[in-house]
Amino acid sequence: MSSGETFPMARAAECPFAPAPGLTRRAPVSRVRLWDGSEPWLITRYADVRAVLADPRVSVDVAQPGFPHTNAVSKARDARMKTLMQMDPPEHTAQRRILAPEFTVRKMAALRPRVQEIVDDLLDRLLAGPNPADLVEAFALPLPSLVICELLGVPYADRDFFQNVARTLVMDDPDPARAVAASEELNAYLEDLVTAKTAGPGLLRKLTGALPPHEIAVLGQLLLVAGHDTTAAMIALGTAVLLTHPEQFRDSSADPTEELLRYLSITHTEARRVALADLEIGGQVIRAGEGIVAVKSTANRDPLAFPEPDRFDALRPARHHVAFGYGRHLCLGAPLARVELKVAYSALRRIPGLALAVPLDRLEFRENAIFYSVRELPVTWASTLTT
Ligand code: HEM
Repeated sequence: MSSGETFPMARAAECPFAPAPGLTRRAPVSRVRLWDGSEPWLITRYADVRAVLADPRVSVDVAQPGFPHTNAVSKARDARMKTLMQMDPPEHTAQRRILAPEFTVRKMAALRPRVQEIVDDLLDRLLAGPNPADLVEAFALPLPSLVICELLGVPYADRDFFQNVARTLVMDDPDPARAVAASEELNAYLEDLVTAKTAGPGLLRKLTGALPPHEIAVLGQLLLVAGHDTTAAMIALGTAVLLTHPEQFRDSSADPTEELLRYLSITHTEARRVALADLEIGGQVIRAGEGIVAVKSTANRDPLAFPEPDRFDALRPARHHVAFGYGRHLCLGAPLARVELKVAYSALRRIPGLALAVPLDRLEFRENAIFYSVRELPVTWASTLTT
């Protein structure tokens, strides 16, 4: 039977970058209690997490009995809208085949100059404005929002609307009806961009004809929400880590991106699946129909995969982390997120005297969001950007 708190659990205030203590103080494969009283299996070791995520006998189909929903909101939303993330093959394979060519490492690398331009522009404005300032509002949120808007062809002028919807969705608004309404409003908006042909040049327009407008809207919603809130969360939280490790922050020989992804593992609701057949993970038999929570945050701190895992070391080879997932649902946007994060962290390094404007223990963390981060990141600096 399960022990301890209900999943998902809060991280510890004295150690806000580490996985929730309730996830680490338990057997590698154990039962955990969810909000609805169900008790799926919680898998915490690196090798076991990868084994589960690569196993064709596990499903992401939220309609399967036993699928572990993290709360009433996600259950209500999942029942209404099925995205790529909730599809098994062959449906998943077909849709991923359409999208994958749009997000290749090569295509995303080609966006780098534009990402750099946006970063430079946002930081110029930040430095010309009041000091201290909130880095989330001024930089972490606008950067990925602008990039994903340009990629999809969504007018950036509508950002207040979609950022608010995203906030309702990913911050886990406690009211399922409100979350479903917000999601449907965003879908209607995106479908309208497609049918009225008002989308700018970009993916929405390109997919017209290949998929029906409603499906393009569902995909657009996934890409728009996953494409900006995740990266924004990583930029802000990653900067908080860097500013509390100033020597590593200033060391230009170390690109901290992969280590920050590993160290922070921001997907608070982890990877959830349901077994379609009996299988054995870490010596434990999991029966068909039982839910599984594969915990990337503990896998990324497994000493067998990452020696001294609780030490933040920007120089460590960390690219085999599972922060972007593993297996067939590996994050489609990882090549894009990597470009944005690399450019962002490197540009921040060039701001003289960049520092937190409040002590770390005064920061407020997004404990209930799907993507963990800081709510605001007040920063201060010494003078203008060097070239
Ligand atoms: C899937 C994390 C950025 C689009 C995933 C998954 C993770 C993840 C863990 C797998 C979920 C699972 O296995 O259940 C992240 C993180 C990001 C990020 C940490 C930023 C640092 C992005 C961006 C985009 C994106 C920028 C869009 C351009 C997607 C999509 C999927 C996905 C479409 C579903 C893939 C599938 O099911 O085949 N992401 N993501 N993500 N991500 Fe990301």
